[in-house]
Amino acid sequence: MRDMNFTPCDQTAAWKLLGDHFAACGKSFDARIALAQDTERVTQLSQVAPHLFADLSKNRIDAATEALLMQLARECGLENQRDAMLAGEPINNTEQRAVLHTLLRQKQPIAGINTAQSATDSGAISSRLQEVHAVLHAMLTYAEQIRADDAITDVVNIGIGGSDLGPAMATMALQEFATPKKRFHFVSNIDGHELAATLKTLNAQNTLFLIASKTFTTIETMTNALSAKAWFEAQGGTDTARHFAALTTNVKAANEFGITTTFGFWDWVGGRYSLWSAIGLPLAIAIGADGFRQFLQGAAEMDEHFASAPLESSLPVRLGLLDVWYRNFHGFTSRCVAPYHSALKRFPAYLQQLEMESNGKRVDKTGQALPFHTSPVIWGEPGTNGQHAFFQMLHQGTEAIPLEFIAVKQASHDLAGHHTKLLANAVAQAQAFLQGKESADGHRHFPGNRPSTFFVLDSLTPASLGALIALYEHRVFVSGAIWGINSYDQFGVELGKVLAKDVEARLLSGNTQGVDASTASLIAKLQ
Ligand code: F6P
Repeated sequence: MRDMNFTPCDQTAAWKLLGDHFAACGKSFDARIALAQDTERVTQLSQVAPHLFADLSKNRIDAATEALLMQLARECGLENQRDAMLAGEPINNTEQRAVLHTLLRQKQPIAGINTAQSATDSGAISSRLQEVHAVLHAMLTYAEQIRADDAITDVVNIGIGGSDLGPAMATMALQEFATPKKRFHFVSNIDGHELAATLKTLNAQNTLFLIASKTFTTIETMTNALSAKAWFEAQGGTDTARHFAALTTNVKAANEFGITTTFGFWDWVGGRYSLWSAIGLPLAIAIGADGFRQFLQGAAEMDEHFASAPLESSLPVRLGLLDVWYRNFHGFTSRCVAPYHSALKRFPAYLQQLEMESNGKRVDKTGQALPFHTSPVIWGEPGTNGQHAFFQMLHQGTEAIPLEFIAVKQASHDLAGHHTKLLANAVAQAQAFLQGKESADGHRHFPGNRPSTFFVLDSLTPASLGALIALYEHRVFVSGAIWGINSYDQFGVELGKVLAKDVEARLLSGNTQGVDASTASLIAKLQ
């Protein structure tokens, strides 16, 4: 029996209506015909949100589809669920935690939003916000101190998952705003090749290691941190307080590790949502305190949009519902993200964790198996590189894969001609996916009507990047809320971690008793 405190999406009237609508016209919907027939379509399916513009008109939706999706959102109590998150209710029900990454970018409690739920003590939000601002102040002061310290030339972030992907992605994305006086390195993998290659380029006296781990127990990070510390000491380094800092909710463990410079955060910040916390320190060192505050501000503007825009004109809501439409009715299994800006190279990898670790769930929030699919596979590469790699499949493969273009209007370089060519390619690819090309020769035929969404940022700045990331965070919330899953736990990563310990011992001892024949054979081979 499912918990009746929430309405499973597949038991709503809207779900049934969407199914009928799909069978009647969704399945055969052709965006080319819709664009030709409906002169209002582009306007209706264009959406301005803070710092960006989105054109959804090449997707397989129309006003009728969106109306049913909005009905679905309302029947699933999306607004209440959103307000519960923003108010600090423990919506991460399996771990009994609030989900308050939005608080990390707020200047003050938002009346009527943070305090929307009667069960929530608005005083708790205020005191949490005070703690947020205290750490933010300390961390930004430290960032400025490191920026001014010419003896520190290299900053090495050691962390994995959310303690790596966010800061690595954003530091690369905002390289134009970064101090040229420091080099930034991100070491995540337990594979010693990565750390060894980085250490070769460093001098202990000029290096700051940031040990980033929410739990301060993650095997990869602890292994790399220990090796980094051993290397530092072997190089004659003694001043650990100056050369090591920890970014963690587990300050006690960091202290026990021997790190005294620490910046904390809280269990109500999920790892993949932690870039806005002390985990953002490498970015703050790169772009400075003002830049980091602008980054937070851009995200806060998107939060405000998500919290207050009517569902029909809320970009995260429209995108999250489109995701449900594509996943559950069209049956699309993946979504490709193509940023047409090389500084956004790591954005698809960041989004993989954000969306797939959040919504890659097979049970609802009460633990009941779901009778429908959840997270699609998220993948991608920057344009135009992807065009010469996998776009072939997107144009002419057997299944349609929704694609997302992210274009940035202003370039931050002055090389003549490049940027117009880049933008032309982005627009032309979206056009090609839509239009296709008739040919009697099957090899040269492009079916077209391949769906895509086109985002435009005026320029890639701390604020616009903050808004873009927050947009995706909220969109993931929306589809997760419709599916009735807990988007904020990640038990799926545990089993492999436990087995790795066992296999490690077996690799050392050679004992393969009790393991399956395939695993035993691999252990024997790799010994
Ligand atoms: O992969 C699981 C996970 O818990 C992620 O959610 C998290 O971002 C990553 O490991 C790193 O965890 P930590 O920051 O605690 O080292």
